[in-house]
Amino acid sequence: IPQSVDLKAEIKKLCKEKNAVILGHFYQSDEIQEIADFIGDSLALAQWAAKTDADIIVMCGVYFMGETAKILCPDKKVLIPDLNTGCSLADSCPAEEFTKFVNAHPGHTVVSYVNTSAAVKAVTDVVVTSTNAKQIVESLPKDEKIIFGPDRNLGNYINSIAGRNMLLWNGACHVHEKFSIEKIIELKKQYPEAQILVHPECKGALAKMADKVGSTAGLLKFAMASDKKDFIVATESGILYEMRKQCPEKNFIPAPPEDSTCACNECNFMRLNTLEKLYNTLKYEWPEVQVEKAVAEKAILPIQRMLDISK
Ligand code: 13P
Ligand code: SF4
Repeated sequence: IPQSVDLKAEIKKLCKEKNAVILGHFYQSDEIQEIADFIGDSLALAQWAAKTDADIIVMCGVYFMGETAKILCPDKKVLIPDLNTGCSLADSCPAEEFTKFVNAHPGHTVVSYVNTSAAVKAVTDVVVTSTNAKQIVESLPKDEKIIFGPDRNLGNYINSIAGRNMLLWNGACHVHEKFSIEKIIELKKQYPEAQILVHPECKGALAKMADKVGSTAGLLKFAMASDKKDFIVATESGILYEMRKQCPEKNFIPAPPEDSTCACNECNFMRLNTLEKLYNTLKYEWPEVQVEKAVAEKAILPIQRMLDISK
């Protein structure tokens, strides 16, 4: 692409010509969040995909988010700027092994986090996101036996706040498990009034220190409503873009990872999407997200159930 091309203007033009909509997750780069038609957490992205009348959905997020959109809109073209946008959490739960685990525990209701492949969703009873996990688990009878996968930290957290004893799959996210508790304690000494905002994919010890545990949208909402000025934010640092935009007078400090030599609080998968790739994706309508029909027909049921409960 020649330097002279105004990528943002061209992207907007292509969207209009092709009746395409750009959905972006809060963990995308600032420039993608700036140009997206809609930005949100994983629940909002699914809800938005389900109701759009655009012909093309460009999912600026990771692959499972594209799959969810495709499952909800099988007749639409769903594009993603980079096909390698995996997710370590989704990868920690291979469908074949998870299915064996489910089959080994008959009589359990299977609750899966949205960060899973379509094939895992196909053996799931109800999908959840961080925003609605507590609400959905609490909608199940108290004595229901539940399998929860794949995130062990979110699962433990829901067990503790909802008084459940769900059987957990042992998966985790490589970004959220890497925050340094010691460095956060140091920051708190420096900013004693700061509130600590923690995503539930972080380790339990960090969640215990939090003023708020929540999804990206939940943390944003909390910060907007708070009368405090300083916040230490323990989730992917992309969320700071919207936090600073919504609350320009407040001070958002990204929680430091254990390894200070890397940008480990950035999700390397999310950050594969770039403005240049987004432009090419819209121009050539490629790469496209595809979900096998037989898998999609099963996976839509637990996704739809989630959307119905979360209305
Ligand atoms: P949210 O649903 O909170 O946006 O989380 C998505 C995700 O991938 C967290 O790592
Ligand atoms: Fe997956 Fe973690 Fe990246 Fe979220 S931050 S998309 S859970 S790897």
